[in-house]
Amino acid sequence: MKILITGTPGSGKTSIAKELSKLLKLPYIDVKKIIKNNPETIDKKELGELIINDKLKKVLSKNLPNSCVFETHLIEYCPKNGLIIILRVNPLVLKKRLIKRGYSKQKIVDNLEVEILDYFTQNIKSNKVIEYDCSKGPAKINALKIKKLIQAKKYNKGGLKHKLSHIKKALF
Ligand SMILES: Nc1ncnc2c1ncn2[C@@H]1O[C@H](COP(=O)(O)OP(=O)(O)O)[C@@H](O)[C@H]1O
Ligand SMILES: [Mg+2]
Repeated sequence: MKILITGTPGSGKTSIAKELSKLLKLPYIDVKKIIKNNPETIDKKELGELIINDKLKKVLSKNLPNSCVFETHLIEYCPKNGLIIILRVNPLVLKKRLIKRGYSKQKIVDNLEVEILDYFTQNIKSNKVIEYDCSKGPAKINALKIKKLIQAKKYNKGGLKHKLSHIKKALF
């Protein structure tokens, strides 16, 4: 089974995907690495960000093994016929993580908006989705809980909502 781990930058994709791949004994794949190994998928670099083109779709469909745990926020290029895990974070926690990463104020606000507006939930058509709150706890424990949800087929698309008070406090 292909398992896509997605979510806003800072949501915990890399930490969770690595732990989950160990638990499920599936290869871990970082889409960033596939992009670097296939430079034709990169249009240009703008303000330190890679601008990706549509070739990534084909490259991913060719390069991803049938069974793997792969992670990216670039969902528009991903095969979505497997299971999708969307990691969610309390906006206040996300803000702290992104400040720690040294992101600019604008980039922090942009990413907070992505989280607050449920970007991933809204843009993924499949219902084979588990949304998981990754605001607390070590990644290892979270990965164990996610494994149990996968085994129990506990799909909950659209089931997580941020508190208005947290949204306001993070943005204003
Ligand atoms: N419960 C948690 N699950 C995952 N990451 C967490 C958790 N708590 C704190 N973190 C931290 O959040 C940061 C972002 O995690 P990372 O896996 O790099 O996210 P992403 O790959 O989505 O950008 C890291 O510094 C990580 O250690
Ligand atoms: Mg990462």
